[in-house]
Amino acid sequence: ARPLVIAVDGPAAAGKGTLARRLAAALDLPYLDTGLLYRAVGRRVLDRGLDPRDVVVAEAEARAMTAEDLARTDLRGPAADMAASAVAAIPAVRAALLDWQREFGRRHGAVMDGRDIGTVVFPDAPIKLFVTAGAKERARRRWAELQARGVAADLDQVEAELRARDAQDAGRSVAPMKPAEDATVLDTTALDAEAAYAAALRLVRARM
Ligand code: C5P
Repeated sequence: ARPLVIAVDGPAAAGKGTLARRLAAALDLPYLDTGLLYRAVGRRVLDRGLDPRDVVVAEAEARAMTAEDLARTDLRGPAADMAASAVAAIPAVRAALLDWQREFGRRHGAVMDGRDIGTVVFPDAPIKLFVTAGAKERARRRWAELQARGVAADLDQVEAELRARDAQDAGRSVAPMKPAEDATVLDTTALDAEAAYAAALRLVRARM
């Protein structure tokens, strides 16, 4: 049998990372946070003092990226968020990262979270979740996360940045963020992390 791949897509700060990680542990599957790949590429471009929208530079950095880049501790935060989203809109960057993601999933199966796992990376995945929540609630969660890390942030600004990034991710011409036709949409606006996980596990089990 083919190794099982579960796609978990959705907008920023919808809680899909936490949820995907827990599903992977429960089902004994590897977990891959595909956003990290774009974050690492964006960081490499910023390190060179260049513009993440530069297609030539961004493609070169995507091809040069290593596993070590994924372990960097500076991949989260407003600058890394926007740099990731900028390089992610470049077709050559996505192409450079595609095989790597497919290899990962094909080897032992995986729970993968991102924006285009169910639509582009593994369109044949038998289980696809699109995890979402209202923008205000997602902003509140991201803000609380920043607080917990000791990073002072303004809630309205966090919301504005989330909305700008989602608009860019959903509006790009290559692999735009959207639910696959056969994805189950899970709206977690009114759910805490525990309830969201329980709902996701039920959906997954119903499809296994
Ligand atoms: O999921 P995360 O917020 O870490 O992703 C950072 C950025 O990487 C997203 O805003 C998006 O532009 C890009 N991304 C993507 N496709 C994926 C995962 C992330 O375009 N599968």
